[in-house]
Amino acid sequence: MTRPIVTVTRRLPAAVEQQLKAQFDARLSADDRPLGTEGLARALAESDAVVSTLGDPLTSAVLHRVPRRARMIAQFGVGYDNIDVRAAAALGITVTNTPGVLTEDTADATILLLLAAARRASEGARELRGGQWTGWRPTHNLGVRVSGKILGIVGFGRIGRAVADRARLGFGMHVVAWSRSLSPEAARDAGVALETDLTSLLGRCDFISLHVPSTPGTRPLLTAERIESIRPGTILVNTARGDVIDETALISALRSGRVAAAGLDVFEREPAIPPALLALPNAVLLPHIGSATIESRTAMGLLAVANLEAFFAGRTVPNHVA
Ligand code: NAP
Ligand code: GLV
Repeated sequence: MTRPIVTVTRRLPAAVEQQLKAQFDARLSADDRPLGTEGLARALAESDAVVSTLGDPLTSAVLHRVPRRARMIAQFGVGYDNIDVRAAAALGITVTNTPGVLTEDTADATILLLLAAARRASEGARELRGGQWTGWRPTHNLGVRVSGKILGIVGFGRIGRAVADRARLGFGMHVVAWSRSLSPEAARDAGVALETDLTSLLGRCDFISLHVPSTPGTRPLLTAERIESIRPGTILVNTARGDVIDETALISALRSGRVAAAGLDVFEREPAIPPALLALPNAVLLPHIGSATIESRTAMGLLAVANLEAFFAGRTVPNHVA
């Protein structure tokens, strides 16, 4: 029996590539380089399914290219803002993602950034490696305490909740969640205060952490105007997507000190980072490694495989997004 052709756009953990080869006629990535629009159009034309990931521009134009053979896109990642899911649905292409299995590791990375920004870890590390550290002194590299402070969570989904738990239980922070769907009772059960007005939340927190997906409604959610309403001295963390913040306005706010520091794992035009952001000592920057543990990345890949298996067996796919 001929096996479905599955093109994989990037290298995946060994255990995942092994599964893909065992079950499908898998066309794996040899060089781990993005396929680009032409490569993606070719993959859609030559395969029954594509395993895509962040940064693969599966736009309406690419999806509409003919000939097209693919009937399924298994996104490796919980976010799928690189895919025009409306166009995919209209063309009858099933799209799945990999939620849940990366939640804990992404929440850990969020706390990593929160602590690093609060304690000026990047600045200290740079100074030490640059040979400029002159030794312990009482007023050197002073940051701010995290315990007892107010953390605003913007988007109280899987990762937002996992961050809230860590902040409350691990660091004794008071958590306020901005959510469109959380009820006051559910907020109480989760140990957080509920704030339904985003501007009010921005004006009352010591720390703010973003956990909304990138959608037409959230690009950007933190507009220049909303950044103006952030309480001066607040520390901002973003492990969601770069384009949910107006990056230029954020840079200005970091320069002026309105936003005291930022911990960023994601950027508006990854992997391009504005030189002005790179130059800011109060920005802790990571290369989009929120889910980068072998455990999460393997589980994400195996979930993508489970979605492919279900699709080609004619069963309901576990993680349908479009
Ligand atoms: P999730 O469980 O779906 O949570 C997202 C929450 O955002 C939802 O519960 C929803 O809450 C809120 N939301 C959705 N659409 C919104 C809109 N248009 N406006 C305002 N709020 C909206 O997703 P998750 O698993 O926590 O992941 C969140 C995001 O994190 C992903 O989409 C991805 O972009 C990012 N991520 C990044 C990394 C990384 O490596 N840095 C890793 C994993 C995920 P309400 O409906 O209650 O408002
Ligand atoms: C990572 O950013 C993801 O969305 O899975």
